Amino acid sequence: MKAVNQQLARASISGYRQATGAPAARGTERVHSAGTIRRGFVVVPLAVLFMFSGVFFPADAAAKEGVQLAPLEGARPAQWRVIWTDDPAHRATVSWNTAAPGKEHRVHFKAAEAGEWTVVECDRNGRFTGREDSPVLYYHHCRLTGLKPATKYSLVMESDGTKSPEFYFVTAPDDDRTVRLLFGGDSRSDRPMRQKMNQMLSGLLADQPSIVALAHGGDYIVNGYNLAQWSAWMSDHELTATADGRLLPIVPTRGNHDFGPIFNEIFGFPQDDENYYGFNLAGDVRLLTLNTEVSTAGEQALWLEDELAHWRPKCEWLLAQYHRPAFPAIKMPSSAKRDWVPLFEKFNVDVVLEADGHNIKRTPPIRDGQVDSTGVVYLGEGGLGVKQRTPLSKRWFLQPPGFSSMGHHVQLLTFEKDRLTAQVIRYGGEVADESVIVPHERRQALAHAASARKPVALEQ
Ligand SMILES: [Fe+2]
Repeated sequence: MKAVNQQLARASISGYRQATGAPAARGTERVHSAGTIRRGFVVVPLAVLFMFSGVFFPADAAAKEGVQLAPLEGARPAQWRVIWTDDPAHRATVSWNTAAPGKEHRVHFKAAEAGEWTVVECDRNGRFTGREDSPVLYYHHCRLTGLKPATKYSLVMESDGTKSPEFYFVTAPDDDRTVRLLFGGDSRSDRPMRQKMNQMLSGLLADQPSIVALAHGGDYIVNGYNLAQWSAWMSDHELTATADGRLLPIVPTRGNHDFGPIFNEIFGFPQDDENYYGFNLAGDVRLLTLNTEVSTAGEQALWLEDELAHWRPKCEWLLAQYHRPAFPAIKMPSSAKRDWVPLFEKFNVDVVLEADGHNIKRTPPIRDGQVDSTGVVYLGEGGLGVKQRTPLSKRWFLQPPGFSSMGHHVQLLTFEKDRLTAQVIRYGGEVADESVIVPHERRQALAHAASARKPVALEQ
């Protein structure tokens, strides 16, 4: 069966190349059929294993020998990234690194249709914290504000007169149009695979322009104090850009390997920031990023409760991401289970994104420690460049209609008005799992209707 499906996978990719040609395919949005929603269940596995859809792995990436990464030379910009931590419809942080400190660092940007370039000076420059044997590396962060939603912005980074190539990024929309989010974690210890996964992300972004960002669930590297490892990760992040220069914004989460000050230096957080924050990916989609590496109780839990209470009535889709799972496929539950899960259930969070385990998992909807169609779905657990582990599939929350597997992968979430589709895309393009979640009001209505029908069924 598996061999047959592998042949199907090759045929699918080959057929796509022949039909379209890989470069020409870019820019063509592909919306996948979500299938039928079964009554009484909120999350519906659809052709769970080995289903192949039109999700496309870039033809040239798999076969590419070696990769082109910008060299770190003097004040030449390299290791570029767009970072979203606040209101990405109107703001973004554009960051890069140089080998020399330089004196003047600025971004030239403009709305793609506009004629005039605007120049903004970097507001934060400094040398990365490192050990004696660390590379010498300088970061530059430029805060762009006053941006228009859902708008393409061209940009060029400049340090001491040396300019980067021209790139662009697209701000988040503020209306209820369909948007997509990539989610993945754990890119820490298999660099060749990390590079291949980044090339796959680039292909997905080119193929599906409604992808707005990559939410990275943490554990970028092995040792958070090791600047050489971080430097390699930042260079590899260049590979997420599309061939025509679109940068994939990153929404960073701190993992247990990402300890120390370098994390905040890379992603432009204040020095002692605790890395939990929230913003809208679209008018109707709110993403909360949490931090399992500081106290999950206390101020963070209070902040989470305030956020959920404020945004639940305002958004169709409410999701959270963090590193160490509440419902792990391998390890023991983190304190997120004690401190956050009751809040997720109280406010009917739609999806929770977890990392750390190095496997693929999707739980059924969970409430009060059991499967409940009005509950919360947990997805995970990291496969952006790390050796995979075998999930403990006998755990109750991994049993069907839950799902567990392993393999390098990324999660692709599609937010539409009436449904949220979650796909697991393996390296190579296979859709290993696909499920649909309906809005929380409908989940509860379906559950109510199902319970109302039960007495009738018993009387018959
Ligand atoms: Fe981890």
